[in-house]
Amino acid sequence: MAISILVLYYSQSGQLGQILDNLVSKMGENTEITTVEYKPQVEFSFPWTSQTFFDAMPESVLEIPVPLQPIHIPQKQYDLVILGYQPWFLSPSIPTSSFLQSDYARVLEGKPVITVLGTRNMWLNAQEKVKARLRQLNARLVGSIVLADTNHNLISLLTIIRWNFTGRKEASRWLPEAGVQTADIKNVARFGPIIQQVAEKKHWDKLQPALLQEGAIGLKPTLIILEKRGIKQFRKFAVYIRQKGERGNPDRLPRVLLFKRLLLTGIFVLSPISGFTAKMASLFKQSSFRKQVNYFKGIDYEKDMI
Ligand SMILES: Cc1cc2nc3c(=O)[nH]c(=O)nc-3n(C[C@H](O)[C@H](O)[C@H](O)COP(=O)(O)O)c2cc1C
Repeated sequence: MAISILVLYYSQSGQLGQILDNLVSKMGENTEITTVEYKPQVEFSFPWTSQTFFDAMPESVLEIPVPLQPIHIPQKQYDLVILGYQPWFLSPSIPTSSFLQSDYARVLEGKPVITVLGTRNMWLNAQEKVKARLRQLNARLVGSIVLADTNHNLISLLTIIRWNFTGRKEASRWLPEAGVQTADIKNVARFGPIIQQVAEKKHWDKLQPALLQEGAIGLKPTLIILEKRGIKQFRKFAVYIRQKGERGNPDRLPRVLLFKRLLLTGIFVLSPISGFTAKMASLFKQSSFRKQVNYFKGIDYEKDMI
């Protein structure tokens, strides 16, 4: 019998859609793929304005859902669900957390799930939040693939700003292409046959080690430290901004602006220093960081890891 796979995702620019198309492209004839894209009822405009972009932080971090457009998920006996999503502000994107809190997410109940992330490079807290939601839904995370921008952290920040505020993903005169590199998007096809083989035998325990062996996740210890520092501040600011109202409320704009200024200063002025202290910390505590890297590359869930 054919293996039935449900692919669920949201993609604002289409990047994650491409990643998922390539992922299933080399699965053999013995698979039946059903793809469903979920979208918010009111779309997030792309390219973003600076205001709409930073104003989306509190609801991303606090996982406050928005209504989704009606979708039809064909009723089938799915053997596996592939959930594609992206982090926004170190958290699951608003469309993703909305989906996971909606009735549609019941399709995940009792199912093996593989998460596929298309990110800049900071995705740890988002994945911990998704792991927790999958648990609540009684789904079993069996595999995870993370595609990130492999350029230097500051370069990837500049290119993602260019991409999000102008729509330009391609390389420009001084900067490389934004987001996940085209070659990596193509190469994701190599994971398809691995997933298929495991799914045929339902040997789910073997999946994540096999995916990691093929390079499914790269993770630098310094990014763990930087993300832990970042999410702490985001959580505080999210609550502070929401004291002045919901997303789009003009009353909260001064606080959003303050957040934007502090974030950009933190990134472009302080980040060489914080990057250096993070590197030192990871060198002095190598075995602790080895453990953390292994944890975040894995599929287990422990509370408060970040
Ligand atoms: C509002 C917003 C916030 C983002 N925050 C992060 C982040 O915290 N970490 C990260 O690695 N990428 C971040 N990204 C990049 C996205 O995760 C994603 O890679 C990119 O938006 C392309 O996704 P798409 O397929 O939906 O177009 C952010 C993007 C947006 C639009």
